[in-house]
Amino acid sequence: MSHILAIDQGTTSTRAIVFDDRARAVATAQTELAQRYPELGWVEHDPEDIWRDTLGTARQAIAEAGVPITAIGITNQRETVVVWDRADGVAIHPAIVWQDRRTADLCRDLKADGAEAEVRARTGLLIDPYFSATKLAWILDAVPGARARAERGELVFGTIDSFLLWRLTGGAVHATDVTNAARTLLYDIREQCWDAELCRLFRVPMAMLPDVHDNAHVFGTTTCFGAPIPIAGMAGDQQAALFGQACFAAGMAKSTYGTGCFMLLNTGEQAVASDHRLLTTPAYRLDGRMTYALEGSIFVAGAAVKWLRDGIGVITSAHETHDMATRVPDNHGVYMVPAFVGLGAPHWDPDARGAIFGLTLGATQAHLARAALEAVGYQTLDLAEAMVADGGAVPAAMRVDGGMAANDWLCQFLADMLQVPVERPVHLETTALGAAFHAGLATGMWSGLDALARTWRQGAVFTPMMGGAARTALTAGWRSAVQRTLSA
Ligand code: G3P
Repeated sequence: MSHILAIDQGTTSTRAIVFDDRARAVATAQTELAQRYPELGWVEHDPEDIWRDTLGTARQAIAEAGVPITAIGITNQRETVVVWDRADGVAIHPAIVWQDRRTADLCRDLKADGAEAEVRARTGLLIDPYFSATKLAWILDAVPGARARAERGELVFGTIDSFLLWRLTGGAVHATDVTNAARTLLYDIREQCWDAELCRLFRVPMAMLPDVHDNAHVFGTTTCFGAPIPIAGMAGDQQAALFGQACFAAGMAKSTYGTGCFMLLNTGEQAVASDHRLLTTPAYRLDGRMTYALEGSIFVAGAAVKWLRDGIGVITSAHETHDMATRVPDNHGVYMVPAFVGLGAPHWDPDARGAIFGLTLGATQAHLARAALEAVGYQTLDLAEAMVADGGAVPAAMRVDGGMAANDWLCQFLADMLQVPVERPVHLETTALGAAFHAGLATGMWSGLDALARTWRQGAVFTPMMGGAARTALTAGWRSAVQRTLSA
């Protein structure tokens, strides 16, 4: 029996999971990643923490599985920027995380100069600090001598997948995959190449950029775990989750609830341009053939629950939110707009900040917990409505995954908001599974998409139960809260 090691380097944790050829997880290791907030709106990670956690969790999972590993798949938090020295692989600055807002002014200037329409046409993205390019330029400006060194080819850039690939191959390979490249603002998703004009616009030397490959591809070989193992799959975490959920047909959609929430709708070979401020993004490229998706990106989902725990101590563990939300009969008029790092789709307001509305003396901790969960449901509805307005059909069902999808109360609320069944697979680790699928395809462990789809196992299904009037009242309250939160 063959086994794949999937490394899932996420925003708040690093996971390593060994899958067998029936897509069952046989060993799992996980460690939390330290977050740094050096200034207001800034979010950084230490690349050495990421590397150490990756090696540690991978070694632990391999030891626990006790089987030889056929191939490795990598999936990662997207957009996060690392710049490192080609000579020794050491980063010249902490990783600037996708949630970081330090380049909001620069983005505003670029938009004021009228750059957005062209950027949007080529990349499928918008100009927002969320994406890599302005963060990368910021590092080159902030670190003395960095820009000149980058132009001489001495410094290289990568998202986390690239950085890990470089380290795992001992500096032999500088590459990425289409889904990660497409999050930089520098990659033309239709021409499928780095775009020289965009590099000029964002002031990024092209010599720094990695080679771009299909998702199922032998990127290189590592000896970090003993005998050489091919690294045969890479994908950004949200695209990996779509793949791990076996959403292979146009019209299938998934929503992943991790730090943020990201809904992706498979649009097949068509790159659908959004009129409602969603993103057009590669879902996967296999044998040179691209499948695209429409994406709605919400920056805060699980992060709001983490804030309830670590920021204000309302809960001691995320699981408590389920019982707290169930304990109260309604939301008592309390709404949380979790714009802790601005708002993503469909508002794209980097200057908005989190707010709680409707507090009365009757509001309790349970209402706060419920408001945090409800906000996830409302934001998911906002994305689904934007997708439909963009011409997408309402998906027959929404497949959910990620840590928060274990919360039954949330899944039921999602079904009530979306008015479609919410399907939860038996295994929620679909992000890691998607990376394993890619690596397994590249190494012949699975024959093709049909074989992968057969491994998908349905767990619980949540069907809509809420009455129309109740739903309308709730969503009206949400919309009013969002209007009061937007910065302009
Ligand atoms: O675009 C950011 C996304 O990739 C982060 O995912 O799972 O770390 O919330 P996650």
